[in-house]
Amino acid sequence: MNSELDRALLRDSFRHIADPAWVYDATGRIAGHLYGALLADSTRMSVWTGPDGASFDDAEVLSELVEEATAIWRVRGAKAHYVWCLGEPARIKHWTDLGYARVSVRGAMTLDRGHPRALPGGYSIRRGTFADLDRAIELDAVLDAAQGVEARSMTRVEREANREELMDTLDDPETHHYVVECNKRVIAQCVTFPAPPRRGSFDATLHLSEVVVDPRHQRRGVANAMLDTAFADGLAHGFRFAETQWRVSNLGATLFWTSYGFQPTYVRLQRTL
Ligand SMILES: CC(C)(COP(=O)(O)OP(=O)(O)OC[C@H]1O[C@@H](n2cnc3c(N)ncnc32)[C@H](O)[C@@H]1OP(=O)(O)O)[C@@H](O)C(=O)NCCC(=O)NCCS
Repeated sequence: MNSELDRALLRDSFRHIADPAWVYDATGRIAGHLYGALLADSTRMSVWTGPDGASFDDAEVLSELVEEATAIWRVRGAKAHYVWCLGEPARIKHWTDLGYARVSVRGAMTLDRGHPRALPGGYSIRRGTFADLDRAIELDAVLDAAQGVEARSMTRVEREANREELMDTLDDPETHHYVVECNKRVIAQCVTFPAPPRRGSFDATLHLSEVVVDPRHQRRGVANAMLDTAFADGLAHGFRFAETQWRVSNLGATLFWTSYGFQPTYVRLQRTL
């Protein structure tokens, strides 16, 4: 170590910035661990635990780890704890017994080389452009309503941030925005982009988001055909898997994704701190 560095100062700095991990010491044997990354977005600070961020021999161990950690997270200003947990009912129950609620599901599937299904007559698909931005935002509001986010409950700052985010998304060359038209009006859209490398996900995964069909055009096979086209494109670009997320409360989406072939992999649980 460079002798110019103050050892004690460096140690204290590390101690201050590192997100702490707890272990449960059962008289010399580690019976569990809990790690939470403290992350701040524009509105609040929260704690995130990934699929490998918690292990425990039994419910008692988890309960004690969570209790210890929660006291520190609160002091550091965190308002919520999110946990990605393997989607097995027995594992999920350990968390729900502690007051955590299931919020969303991550699902994955292998892309299949079958022939894409055709859109119903009168519909056509193309890549979106900036000229579609306003309509894309309108459709986004339909998606938010289905996911339980009321447009009215969003602040102006949040709405503007959403618009900026969508513009950045459309500007990214690796992102593909597909729109479906009927009578020259955009009635459906979806967005795909390469999923970032992530623990618990396959490599070569295409992430899918913003999937929405105007309510007047639903249940005609539009989403099925739109995704088939997006995934055929993905396969041609070397992707082998697809991943997406949906809210547990969004029953229509849950039925759609599972009927399309997505298998639930992880569940995101949440508890207010
Ligand atoms: C989910 C959504 C994209 C499906 O679009 P769609 O064009 O209606 O879907 P499709 O017609 O291709 O449906 C294919 C199959 O999915 C299932 N499905 C789709 N919507 C369903 C619903 N509301 N209830 C039950 N099953 C449904 C059915 O099995 C359907 O086949 P069927 O009509 O022959 O029974 C559309 O309902 C939507 O935009 N919802 C609001 C936004 C949203 O929740 N997006 C997903 C966010 S994660």
